Amino acid sequence: MNRLGRREFLATAAAAALFPLRGRAGFTPGLTSRQTALSYEVFDPTRPFNFSQSLLLPADHGPFGILEPTASFTLTAGESRHELFPGTLSALNTYAVELEGRAFTDPIIHLRNGDSLDVQLRNELTDPTIVHWHGLRVDGKNDAHVSFAIPAKGSYRYDFPILNRAGAYWYHPHPHGFTARQVYLGLAGLFIVDDDEELALRNNLDLRLGETDIPLVLQDKQFSSEGELIYDPNTADRMMGFLGDVIFVNLTPKPVLDLQGRIYRFRILNGSNARIYRLAFVKGTTPIPLMLIGNDGGLLEQPIEITEIFLAPGERADVLLDARRLDAGDVFFLKSLAFNPMHNEMHGFTPGQQSSRLAEGEEFYIMQLNVQAATSYDRVAPSRLSEIRPILTGGAASRRFDLALSMGGPTGGRRWTINRLTYNMEEYPVSVSRGAIEIWEIVNSPMSMPHPIHIHGFPFQVISRTGSPNQISRLVAGPDGLVPSDRGWKDTVLVWPGERVRLAIDFAHNFPGRQPYLFHCHNLEHEDQGMMINYEVT
Ligand code: C2O
Ligand code: CU
Ligand code: CU
Repeated sequence: MNRLGRREFLATAAAAALFPLRGRAGFTPGLTSRQTALSYEVFDPTRPFNFSQSLLLPADHGPFGILEPTASFTLTAGESRHELFPGTLSALNTYAVELEGRAFTDPIIHLRNGDSLDVQLRNELTDPTIVHWHGLRVDGKNDAHVSFAIPAKGSYRYDFPILNRAGAYWYHPHPHGFTARQVYLGLAGLFIVDDDEELALRNNLDLRLGETDIPLVLQDKQFSSEGELIYDPNTADRMMGFLGDVIFVNLTPKPVLDLQGRIYRFRILNGSNARIYRLAFVKGTTPIPLMLIGNDGGLLEQPIEITEIFLAPGERADVLLDARRLDAGDVFFLKSLAFNPMHNEMHGFTPGQQSSRLAEGEEFYIMQLNVQAATSYDRVAPSRLSEIRPILTGGAASRRFDLALSMGGPTGGRRWTINRLTYNMEEYPVSVSRGAIEIWEIVNSPMSMPHPIHIHGFPFQVISRTGSPNQISRLVAGPDGLVPSDRGWKDTVLVWPGERVRLAIDFAHNFPGRQPYLFHCHNLEHEDQGMMINYEVT
């Protein structure tokens, strides 16, 4: 219980103050949910009300605490109770770390390029698990192919050097068939890597992680009136993905954040199972311009001015917001704007059949931001951030991957497939030679839905996007149909129905022998159902 730290303090000391007069009907502060049912209305994201819990900011311990390991440590996956809703402790699955007298829950692992990580995973869950380091350049053993999943009470040792450039990577479970449930129940954390370019930027803009450089982990969940999370996908949820109807940022529902008149950096992770967000910071109906400075694999070469960005499960966006553009006293919101979710009819399910009260593509509020007094801050964002060398694809071989619904697979049911295949742990349909440069062409059927495609082990560059629907093509900036979220280094790319997205991948690494990796859809219900294939590098 003491690992709850600040949140627990809030529970006991200030629950009554958390829903002050701004609170709407239906929630009685100070009572536990065992006595009074939580009202959905209070947390309904379509209403700009009740934003009254302070956003959980990472400290040097506690939930999302910043862990800078200098020695080996143990990461324990297990059950814990967490105050998601004021006055109620909800059961989650989380990663716990005790180190040098400090307790962390789902820590932000913070290291520098060239450091190494030595960590022992312990499984205190009742199901098998394994941790995957999403976006990191590691060998197959450390990437933790699903076949390495450990049983309850088992343990697994990871030990690898950090070869990646700076960026906000993340870690989460990857046991085949259990990934969606385990991530949903709370097993996920950020993995922030620094390097010289990154430190120069932070220095330049006077950014401090946890204060003015703020991770935002977006997750949508369903909960019962007792405050317990519900993960019970129906057939339509399994086909389209399980959506929540309460939106959490850093495990805080209806969060509020106070800003001063200066530049803030937000590193946004879509840690949701299936929901795609069309993110914008909006004052009234006016979007506030942002600088996109990084994507999945760290900084871009130059900032790109944007007013909105689509973020699919697994993707990250790194943005600067200059609060000097606003006035003291201004109130604005991080929102997800309305869009067409393109769950095309052919697969026989309509979004209305999903269990969530909040449909995909519906407009909703995520976080309230309040602008406070001006400060003496006078920094300006640099026009050049980093160097990105394009992968040279002249003469590169190309492979095509078709995303489609297959009728009547082995079990007779409908399933999302990659090249008509459903995941088979023993088979390696793709074998790549170490050091090869390849173009992977991902083609999504027009009679499909959006699929966020993720490749393990090798960050890639998006080289073209064609056949885009209007809501994407109007965002195109630059040649080859690329949108700002395609720039720089990526490990997850959203492919809309009818699109053809080409990726350049350099399969160079120094790990010897045969190395097993995965390639899959990061809609976690799709992944668990087998929209995933093995590939090997030999
Ligand atoms: Cu983030 Cu294979 O996963
Ligand atoms: Cu991954
Ligand atoms: Cu998918």
